[in-house]
Amino acid sequence: MPRPHPDPRTAQKNAIPRLRVPDSTLSLLREGYGFISRRCDRLGTDAFRTRLMGSRVVAMRGAEAARLVYDSGRFGRWKAMPVLTLRLLQDHGSVQLLEGGAHRVRKGMFLDLMTPPALERARTILAREFRIAAGRWRERGEVVLMPAFREILTRTACAWASVPLAEEEVAPRVREFGAMTDAAGSVGPANWRAQRLRNRSEAWARALIDRVRSRAIAPGPDSPLAVIANHRDSNGALLDRDHAGVELLNLLRPTVAIDRFLTFTALALHQHPHWAEAFAGGNEGDIRPFVQEVRRTTPFFPAIGARAMEATEWHGHRFAAGDWVILDLYGTNRHPGLWESPESFRPERFRDWQGDPFTLIPQGGGHFEDGHRCPGEWLTIALMEEAVRFLTRGIRYMVPPQDLSVPLSRMPTQPRSGMVIRAVRPA
Ligand code: HEM
Repeated sequence: MPRPHPDPRTAQKNAIPRLRVPDSTLSLLREGYGFISRRCDRLGTDAFRTRLMGSRVVAMRGAEAARLVYDSGRFGRWKAMPVLTLRLLQDHGSVQLLEGGAHRVRKGMFLDLMTPPALERARTILAREFRIAAGRWRERGEVVLMPAFREILTRTACAWASVPLAEEEVAPRVREFGAMTDAAGSVGPANWRAQRLRNRSEAWARALIDRVRSRAIAPGPDSPLAVIANHRDSNGALLDRDHAGVELLNLLRPTVAIDRFLTFTALALHQHPHWAEAFAGGNEGDIRPFVQEVRRTTPFFPAIGARAMEATEWHGHRFAAGDWVILDLYGTNRHPGLWESPESFRPERFRDWQGDPFTLIPQGGGHFEDGHRCPGEWLTIALMEEAVRFLTRGIRYMVPPQDLSVPLSRMPTQPRSGMVIRAVRPA
């Protein structure tokens, strides 16, 4: 909740203070993940007004702000993200841009894919891919984990979705899926390249939908590929092939993007070796708390944009329909009012955690069915848990000296070295 602005005259006019700069775009690009929290701390508030790319915006963090953006039914995603970012991530025609009944039906399609047996199948496929990769790694001197995880997850995502993937297709798919996430926060040549690769992926995904519909391939009826190809929207019609292709990519691309969480999992095991020892010794009970703490602390999706769908008031601020807000996901996960010693890595905090849809929000907040919370959260957690088992019980390795710093001005970021391991051998 925004605490009152220190200047009582301003507080009377608007409870949300305004930055005294004409535009904050350059500061955001320069500072990255810390931009919103730093200003909130300085102003003693959880929300402030400024301009980004010339447009007025309210930047906010914390559980109250997450509740407003995810659970009030008053904020949507239409024109809430820069177009170049949107195109690389969810894209036009995706579930993220739907609201109300149409959103519920499309979101149901994703949520129905996340049954416990389906998650178990994904975990088993990943375990198999880890075993195969570990065999190859033994012959190499060094392995850079981030790209290695990217390839493993591309194979896993396609196998899980029943998407055929010939060996010669692996490298281009890895490149395309990776570029979409890597370039989501950039402008200029890196983004243009990713847009070109995205177009190729979309053509590939549309062709897959066509092949299912023409029965040229017959994935099992419950497989993600078949479910998307045969999905009927709220109007009872099959998804058109463009939108079905977009949604297939919305399943595959973010599953591959778990490479970042897996890399930060490996980093956390390296930086907190007593946890690695505990897991190697058979501790199962703390794997979930450990994974939750990695999700809480990893700088991944920095913030999410939303627009008021109707005029509304919040803590004394009047939003007109169309007004823009950005919710700081990273800053909420590290909010000092929500988390004790937020900068310390402490999986213990999640041992008795009852779950709170508005405080731990690396993949969005609120409720799954009616809001925009990520439907891939359980899959993400299941695959991260399997990675903990593999890294601590499946293999032994050394971590050579390298630059493991994480530049917070880059979004999304990763350890600079990509996390190199050496001398891999079976555990
Ligand atoms: C790699 C880790 C992931 C991160 C950091 C992440 C992050 C997010 C975030 C922040 C949102 C909320 C967007 C909003 O509020 O508008 C979201 C939504 C979404 N995510 Fe994920 N996600 C991840 C993995 C996945 C996976 C594995 C899937 C596929 C199953 C997935 C599919 C989606 C979809 C379809 C939405 C849109 C939901 C809606 O609008 O109702 N994500 N994700």
